[in-house]
Amino acid sequence: MFPVHRPRRLRSSEILRSMVRETVVAPSDFIYPVFVTYGQNTRREISSMPGCYQESPDLLLQNVREAWNLGVPSVILFGIPEHKDPSGTGAYAKDGVVQAAIRQLKDALPDLVVITDVCLCEFTDHGHCGIVKDNRVLNDPTLELLARMAVSHAEAGADMVAPSDMMDGRVGAIRKALDAHGFGQIPIMSYAAKYASAFYGPFREAAESTPQFGDRKTYQMDPANARESLHEVGLDLEEGADIVMVKPALSYLDVIRIIRDRVHIPVAAYNVSGEYSMVKAGAKLGYLDGDRVMLEILTSIRRAGADLILTYHAKEAAALLNR
Ligand code: PBG
Repeated sequence: MFPVHRPRRLRSSEILRSMVRETVVAPSDFIYPVFVTYGQNTRREISSMPGCYQESPDLLLQNVREAWNLGVPSVILFGIPEHKDPSGTGAYAKDGVVQAAIRQLKDALPDLVVITDVCLCEFTDHGHCGIVKDNRVLNDPTLELLARMAVSHAEAGADMVAPSDMMDGRVGAIRKALDAHGFGQIPIMSYAAKYASAFYGPFREAAESTPQFGDRKTYQMDPANARESLHEVGLDLEEGADIVMVKPALSYLDVIRIIRDRVHIPVAAYNVSGEYSMVKAGAKLGYLDGDRVMLEILTSIRRAGADLILTYHAKEAAALLNR
């Protein structure tokens, strides 16, 4: 033992530390979540998420082009429609806000990997992720709408779809519909282990998707459960998921790790709105160094086993990592 072993020997300079570093974070690991709204020349900052915006497709393109130029290969699109209704019609409309944004982004940046969030909650007036009857969220009737939504995204040119609704059987339903419409090559990134989390608070302001009654606990997972995530992941794999996601990330690093150790497909983690807002708030108050905390968080998510990170920090982190 000591003095033969001195772990500090390999910590003596930055170059040496970089040689023995186990985990690397790179801009190519990031998927940048963005919020598209109707109209033109419109950009509204989300008050609880400084640096994040609701943007019309024209300004969204500027924002996404900056991310692309920083080496961020992919975005995930969330839509805020002009009108909402009980069955979320705007979600699968040919000229819907997301569909229009996909066309515009792919037109300008053909190599950008455009992923779409497949979920009804931004498009329903009750704010739930499925069809509601007698104050209950119905599973099976929702599947058909999700499948339609996924197909309409693929028709608009999306490269990948990401169902986040947590209805049972949705990956299979979407796979079947995509295949039937000639989109057999479009991968599905499943929000496989998505927890009913208070960390989504700021997102619901951003996406205007707060449920108008009750909560999402009848479909999203109980934060106390880790083993159950393996069950969810197993089902999604059988149904044809190409990538599985854990969400949120920070309070669920153990879940990322157990899933990483058991599956052989890519694992993604969603560094969600509340995780982002806490860093921004802490930095603004001067309580912590926002940039360093951000990079440490992203590193921890990679170290836990995530191959890909969905993060609102994508642009600022990429800019720092490129230095
Ligand atoms: C839609 C959806 C949510 C998030 C991603 N897709 C919100 C929710 O389930 O209430 C959260 C993302 C975030 O907090 O950053 N179902």
